[in-house]
Amino acid sequence: MAALQSVRGTKDLLPNQIQDWYFIESVFRKCAEQFGYTELRTPIFEYTEVFLRGVGDTTDIVGKEMYTFDDKSGNSLTLRPEMTAALVRSVIQNSLIQQSSPTKLWYFGPFFRYERPQKGRYRQFHQFGAECLNTEFPESDLETILLANRIIKSLGIAESNLQINSLGNETVRATYKEELKNYLKQHFDKLSEDSQRRLEGNPLRVIDSKDPRDIEISANAPKLKNYFDNESADHFGFVIKSLDDLGIAYTLKDNLVRGLDYYSHTVFEFQSSYLGSQDSFGGGGRYNKLFEELGGKKAPSVGFAFGVERLLLILEQQNLLNSPAPRLDFYVMTSNSKDLPLAISYTDRLIKMGKSANYDLHRKSFKSQLKDANRLNARYVLILGEDEIQNNQIAFKNMETGEQITIAQTDFEDQISKII
Ligand code: HAM
Repeated sequence: MAALQSVRGTKDLLPNQIQDWYFIESVFRKCAEQFGYTELRTPIFEYTEVFLRGVGDTTDIVGKEMYTFDDKSGNSLTLRPEMTAALVRSVIQNSLIQQSSPTKLWYFGPFFRYERPQKGRYRQFHQFGAECLNTEFPESDLETILLANRIIKSLGIAESNLQINSLGNETVRATYKEELKNYLKQHFDKLSEDSQRRLEGNPLRVIDSKDPRDIEISANAPKLKNYFDNESADHFGFVIKSLDDLGIAYTLKDNLVRGLDYYSHTVFEFQSSYLGSQDSFGGGGRYNKLFEELGGKKAPSVGFAFGVERLLLILEQQNLLNSPAPRLDFYVMTSNSKDLPLAISYTDRLIKMGKSANYDLHRKSFKSQLKDANRLNARYVLILGEDEIQNNQIAFKNMETGEQITIAQTDFEDQISKII
């Protein structure tokens, strides 16, 4: 029978890669904690309605990419394609919003989108994200960008480009959408099929399309910033001026609208030239209406998420993934497998001392055990040979220096502590 394969667009995370993930996770956790965020974990699946209402039914995510199924009771469930809507659902349900103070949450975990798999694009991928909830002022937009920036720097990513735009408030966006639709309708025949389809429901997506036909038409389209009222201009002005004051580089990108419906005011993405066509490794923005859309009280919020696989691709290309191979402290050997119970008891004592320790599980020859100790990268080997056992001793070998000494079996723990 043919061996079964993993599902297309999914990847196994192998033992030799796991140290890199631990490294990335530790940077996320440390930076998020520095900025006063605490972790929230939610289930992998939600009622489909969370994403229909949260992400928006004109988006590609909801329209084409969700893993949706009925459970045995006929409930429509969806594997989460993103966290923001699920997190807001949880925050409302668990009453995590406190009046007049922000709730700051971070998350890390797998997400699912039925996209066409390619380098940097998978059907199961991982995001780290942070959401600053219940804050309407642009200081919080800035703080989330600063957190994202700190993570990028702490990971050691040398080259990244922050692209930023503002979608203004709802009123100016509504006026603009009508103007944009009128303009695009005049050029309907020249637009891509995707954009022709999006024009009515989500005209903003047409202007960030990568199709050359849409790019040509969008070049002369009305610009959203020309419709800004004072509130929209002041909000974005504060964010931009603060980035300037802090010396953080950015590119203003008029046509950055992002692929989710919930944004208003600031939106941003991080891009890297190391990534080819899937060049965006993180993105986010402000969402002021999502709480109400999911049945909660008003709580304007802002956040972002990084794609962990894309961060890893960048780190790999910068040669920054050199986590040391895992090491074993002790390998406990016997020259005869009848003495294994003694090896097991010494291994047990080492584990109780907080060391990592293994003994032979294959009843192998002495020579093969030594090979095993090398393969496992053991720092030290303890040898329980015939002579040692007869004399109540243990041989202790330092695998780095090759030095070997004999110690007495009495006061084992004390002696080991003194030597290493
Ligand atoms: P997003 O831009 O859809 O935003 O996803 C964020 C990041 O997840 C992307 O920049 C990318 O690195 C990664 N990503 C997305 N899809 C895939 C995929 N199929 N394969 C690999 N990586 C992928 C959001 O999800 C928003 N919830 C971000 C946010 C948080 N906005 C406000 N708060």
